[in-house]
Amino acid sequence: MAGHLVALETLEQADSPESIYDQWSDDYDQNLMEHYQYIAPKIAVDAFCEFQQPSQSSIIDYGCGTGIVGELLAKRGYHHIDGMDISQGMLDQARPKMENGQSVYQKLIKADLTQTIETPDEHYEGMICVGSFANGHLQPWHLDEMLRTIRMDGPVVLFMNEQFYLKDNFPGYFEHLGKQRKWELIRQQRHNYMEALERPGWLVVARRC
Ligand SMILES: C[S@@+](CC[C@H](N)C(=O)[O-])C[C@H]1O[C@@H](n2cnc3c(N)ncnc32)[C@H](O)[C@@H]1O
Repeated sequence: MAGHLVALETLEQADSPESIYDQWSDDYDQNLMEHYQYIAPKIAVDAFCEFQQPSQSSIIDYGCGTGIVGELLAKRGYHHIDGMDISQGMLDQARPKMENGQSVYQKLIKADLTQTIETPDEHYEGMICVGSFANGHLQPWHLDEMLRTIRMDGPVVLFMNEQFYLKDNFPGYFEHLGKQRKWELIRQQRHNYMEALERPGWLVVARRC
């Protein structure tokens, strides 16, 4: 397993993942896609597309990294995608990505998603977040601030590693969000998220209330 993956799995909550991703950014795509056949972005984008949102919908990709999710969304016809991430190195890899002569992302914003997000309420029509809820990354309660930026009925699709999903009781927090009428949980599904490495994860599909 690559050193960066080991470093991430031993990250403590008090540590910032920013420098690990800055250092990994150059070979992140090759490492994950070619060596491990990382399929979480495809699973999440397929789930997002089930909502059949109009192609002009504005979408936020939280923890967009190098833009693998954005590329897949653009291939499915979405061209109003913004991305936010804490790592400048990862954002620099996402910036040049193009689909049909157009940049995949309209805006790429460097932001720490554990803090207040500088986006108005209900600004986006849908959100997707793949691989960013984990130890030393985002915790369940950071979802509140993300959901604030999504319009009523907007699709919300997450994908996360099972280890943190269980350890940090994400299912309990999802239920709490449902009780607070912040979202309606539609389904949670277990999937391995790398084809060449045993890595169970969870797809979470919801709709903003
Ligand atoms: C495993 S990568 C996933 C990237 C991309 N979504 C993908 O599937 O390839 C996790 C991403 O979350 C970002 N991240 C972690 N903690 C963050 C935070 N507090 N605020 C914003 N982004 C964060 C990292 O910089 C990294 O790009």
